[in-house]
Amino acid sequence: MKESTYILVVDDEQLVLDSFSEAFVQEGYQVTKAKNWSQANRYLKTYQYNIIIADVRLPDVGCQEMIEDIKEQNKYAYIITSAGFADIDTAMDSLQHGAHDYMSKPFDPSGIVTTMRKIVDKQRLQADNLQLFDTIKVLALALDARDHYTHGHSQQVTEYAVDIAREIGLSFKEINIIRDAGILHDIGKIGIADAILLKPGRLTQEEYIQIKKHPVIGKKILDPVNCLADNIPLIYHHHERIDGQGYPDGLTGDNIPLGARILSVADAYQAMTSDRPYRKSLPALIAIEELKRFKGRQFDPDIVDAFLRVLRRMGIKTTNNTAEAPVT
Ligand SMILES: [Fe+2]
Repeated sequence: MKESTYILVVDDEQLVLDSFSEAFVQEGYQVTKAKNWSQANRYLKTYQYNIIIADVRLPDVGCQEMIEDIKEQNKYAYIITSAGFADIDTAMDSLQHGAHDYMSKPFDPSGIVTTMRKIVDKQRLQADNLQLFDTIKVLALALDARDHYTHGHSQQVTEYAVDIAREIGLSFKEINIIRDAGILHDIGKIGIADAILLKPGRLTQEEYIQIKKHPVIGKKILDPVNCLADNIPLIYHHHERIDGQGYPDGLTGDNIPLGARILSVADAYQAMTSDRPYRKSLPALIAIEELKRFKGRQFDPDIVDAFLRVLRRMGIKTTNNTAEAPVT
């Protein structure tokens, strides 16, 4: 039996709502119409839609807030923003905030039906991929939670990485890529023996070689998931160093993806400030001194500086200097 497709159309022009509705109902789609955002938001809280077509200039919401609301409540929906000629730049910007596509008004009803058929196929594939991704995330969090020492590591790394990404002004889309990569960055450790991962003493050289395989194993696990194409390079390269002494590829400087350079700083700080089977956690100030010491060698200096600003904003001292200026 053919699965139903549910479409929500949000526009303050009745004519637009009616013409969409007429064209889509004839195609067998289930269409819901909303004249403003507060009405649409009520529907979003109650129902799940496959596709949402929303005007970028609604009287009661901004474009970015609108997309964030949709993503929070209908995470598998395919989001299309629509705009008249005067607002087309806003519609294009909406892609940065997480919309999948945009359309310009006025619409050609026959063209829109053809486009919608393609989008319905695309949305189903994307939703399947995202569901698979959610399953992998659950696995990654289970891996994170299974022992006392790494409990919550990936989640905390993710929080630091997202804070850094915001601090340096990355877009909503880039931040989302970093967030998902953060949760999954050590997924390859599934393929490393517990006897090595949880060893209480120092690792032998052979054991260290095994541990260093986890980014490669992570990439192999995630490669079949199409929707992770943007996240995988961050996961694969999160142990590279600016000076080329990292792994797996020994990349240098800006050749390392920016998201991977961010994860590297967040990962190192979280690891240093938490207990490990072979050592106690370091005080924040000592860990910060280590980040500074390895600036330009292991870590991107701009990322370390951004992270120090984030920490200061959290009320963490980043120097012994008592006259340290607060970050506002
Ligand atoms: Fe790692």
